[in-house]
Amino acid sequence: MQVIIQPDTQSAVKLTAAVLADALRRNPEMTFGLATGATMEGVYAELVRMYREEKLDFSSAKTFNLDEYIGLPVEDKNSYRSYMDKHLFDHINIKKSNTHLPNGMTPDIPGEGSRYEAAIKAAGGLDLQLLGIGQDGHIGFNEPLSSLRSRTRDKLLAPQTLQQNSIYFDPPESMPRRAFTMGIGTILDARKIVMLVTGESKSDIIAQAIEGPVSSMVTASAIQFHNDATVILDQAAASKLKAQDYYHWCFENEPYWDKFR
Ligand code: PGA
Repeated sequence: MQVIIQPDTQSAVKLTAAVLADALRRNPEMTFGLATGATMEGVYAELVRMYREEKLDFSSAKTFNLDEYIGLPVEDKNSYRSYMDKHLFDHINIKKSNTHLPNGMTPDIPGEGSRYEAAIKAAGGLDLQLLGIGQDGHIGFNEPLSSLRSRTRDKLLAPQTLQQNSIYFDPPESMPRRAFTMGIGTILDARKIVMLVTGESKSDIIAQAIEGPVSSMVTASAIQFHNDATVILDQAAASKLKAQDYYHWCFENEPYWDKFR
């Protein structure tokens, strides 16, 4: 795992977008796993800027989002399809038919997970999975006690997640209590993982995920099993990490990062 601490949120966001853009330039047919949430809005704004100003080309890219609420029509402003259209897909040259999210309105809830898994497999698997982290340590909506081998399925959301995300819903109680989410096993199958974590409010949970034991109580800790995971943090999110000096030293001395420094 690589842990990169940037001085502020904007530079952490920009570095994350730069890593994604670099991967896309090297392989225009990238299949990205994408994430939603407030943290990612800046990443998508930066990718849109690179599309407009630097001709970053998404025409052959494919995407699979981590998760989608169950029972929200795609037109609902809180569906993750709406989020992705609003923040990214409507502003770049990606083919909408190449963008995938679980179908939150499917009549076949038990079958949706395996359908989504099959679609990922048919696309050749995920080349790069972008991740945030929830207050309860989730990646995707893999709430505490999710199996570390789990695959895409429907999941009951934890109280902390309902509290974190219900601010977007009016009234807050109208937030769905279930969502489809890629599993931890699905995420770990991605060839590369890039996690972005910003803000003091995430400092405790990210320290547990990176420096604590691997545990299904903090499902983000499972990325310790991945052989190509990069975690990008701002200083506020990194403030509780014990080995900050070591992470800075690795970033300064690892040639792969030369072009990003
Ligand atoms: P946030 O969500 O970016 O809105 O904090 C992250 C998450 O819950 O995974």
